[in-house]
Amino acid sequence: MDAKKTIFSAPGKIILFGEHSVVYGHPAIVTAINLRTKCRVTESLQNKVQLSISSESSLNSSLTALKREYTMNKEQNVFFAQDSNSEQPVNPAYYFIAEKVLNLSASKKCPHIHVNSEIPPGIGLGSSAANSVATLASLSAFMGIELSLEELNGLAYEAEKIVHGRPSGVDNTISTYGGIQFYKEKKFSQLNIPKISSYVVIVNSGIQRSTKTYVEKVAKSLEKDTTKYQSILEEIGNLTTIAKSSLMEGNIQKLGNLMTQNHLLLEDLGVSHPILTDLTNLLVQLGSLGSKLTGAGGGGCVIGLFDNYQKANRAIEEMKNRDFQAVISSLAERGVQVEQ
Ligand code: PMV
Repeated sequence: MDAKKTIFSAPGKIILFGEHSVVYGHPAIVTAINLRTKCRVTESLQNKVQLSISSESSLNSSLTALKREYTMNKEQNVFFAQDSNSEQPVNPAYYFIAEKVLNLSASKKCPHIHVNSEIPPGIGLGSSAANSVATLASLSAFMGIELSLEELNGLAYEAEKIVHGRPSGVDNTISTYGGIQFYKEKKFSQLNIPKISSYVVIVNSGIQRSTKTYVEKVAKSLEKDTTKYQSILEEIGNLTTIAKSSLMEGNIQKLGNLMTQNHLLLEDLGVSHPILTDLTNLLVQLGSLGSKLTGAGGGGCVIGLFDNYQKANRAIEEMKNRDFQAVISSLAERGVQVEQ
């Protein structure tokens, strides 16, 4: 990371293929999206380590633009709210990151960390990882520490563990390196795909869900009917491997088809929701080549693949007419990067 620049951004993610089956050793394909968290660090005017958090998202109109202000309290290992707007508890990953970077640095500078995210939390788009990656990059640069991408990714993974318990590491990896990653049994490989005209429409169902609940639901189903559920997970795994080849060949028609098949298997797995199914059908009616839920299911987002920007844009407008927030992203967006 360039230690002279102190504004960095990092992307969120969507799972294109393989959610849930990835928990059982099958592969998954994940891409960085164009919703990002930006972090800027300046010298604190109060001579205290300060954290300001704000969000602005076209995917969630109920997110307020209100800025939340915190100061670091080293005795109690937390960031304390500075005013009544900031009573919402702050993600403990920020304390971990601030403490880690300040301890690594010999600088006496006192940072004010400003985080602004376009990625709504709690809908499977990797917001916490993007916040951690952007903050680590920006704060380490301000404090004069040069972190390699590998070191940054490692620290972001530690921060993710504080938030999510036992995360796969997919979110921090994609946020750090960007692109499209093929993930299997803790190993990631970047997929170099040909330049193809492809757009993903991401629709927020507006239903909050907990990843843990749905991972546990699958585990229980597997316990009850091992043969049935193992075979669904295997089918998703096989389909993900085929999707990798389709991506490498730039065969977007086939990719869309595989997405729809993946969604049907996720329905069989019991992690969909009637609204998610309606939204995936609607995306296909609006010209998508294929669509599926993305992430843990039960709510969160659905995605539709398009080969035409105008069609994708029209789908967004149709979604908005039905009161669903939606955005367009291309595939394989950039990982952590310096901002002007
Ligand atoms: O809720 P998300 O988008 O972070 O996705 C969870 C994906 C699962 O495969 C269901 C769980 C996991 O740890 O991989």
